[in-house]
Amino acid sequence: MYLPQLLTKLAKGEKLVALTCYDASFARALTRAGVDILLVGDSLGMTVQGRATTLAVSLEDMSYHTEAVARGTAQADGSGAFIMADLPFGSYQASPQQAFAAAARLMAAGANMVKLEGGAVMADTVAFLVQRGIPVCAHVGLLPQSVNVTGYRAQARDEAAAAQLLQDAQALQAAGAQILLMESIPASLAAEVTRILAIPTIGIGAGSACSGQVLVLHDVLGLTEKPPRFAKNFMPGAASIEAAVRAYVEAVKSGRFPGPEQQF
Ligand code: KIV
Repeated sequence: MYLPQLLTKLAKGEKLVALTCYDASFARALTRAGVDILLVGDSLGMTVQGRATTLAVSLEDMSYHTEAVARGTAQADGSGAFIMADLPFGSYQASPQQAFAAAARLMAAGANMVKLEGGAVMADTVAFLVQRGIPVCAHVGLLPQSVNVTGYRAQARDEAAAAQLLQDAQALQAAGAQILLMESIPASLAAEVTRILAIPTIGIGAGSACSGQVLVLHDVLGLTEKPPRFAKNFMPGAASIEAAVRAYVEAVKSGRFPGPEQQF
């Protein structure tokens, strides 16, 4: 699926459902269950590789998993889920040219869009990629690649930080970002950003007003030892993995997820 088809769903009033995905078998199952966006997240550093952070995930790792996911979701008629792939730490921060070389690898591996972390400081890089045919999702709020600076803590909780996030969001949109992902920020701030921006927002721990939601697959399947407060295990009561993912899809599409217990 290409970006225009994804945006058509929004225009019809649908919430976008995203879930992380790292291999072909899950790509097939998640596509059948109705997930719109398969995020090949660098969270694979934790979920697949067993590391404590995302920092050691390489561009080779991301390219390998993106290819596997692309093989799993591809349909002969060109349909299938939309694939978003994370640019890993150290592959894009040095310059727009460095980012282009890394992003081109992921697009060649089958991504439909790349995601990068950072606010206005990444605006030039976003513009450079978008002007050269690479759709970009910008990731703000809690930035796992900056864990050494912030820890894994909710972000933008005071007035100054909230104002900064709003400015970042506008700068990234102006640079050409086509989606904004917001992680671990107050629901009221995410709602304001969503109201102000013209591009869709995807939230994770950012309340229910976003244009869509994303979760980490292993949290949805109850495989995470200490899941974040905003996550939800959809396995209890589900007859299969696919049924659990379908329950997540339905909960997002109907506005039942995230509920009050997942918001702050
Ligand atoms: O890598 C990832 O799984 C992510 C999500 C936390 C949004 O970026």
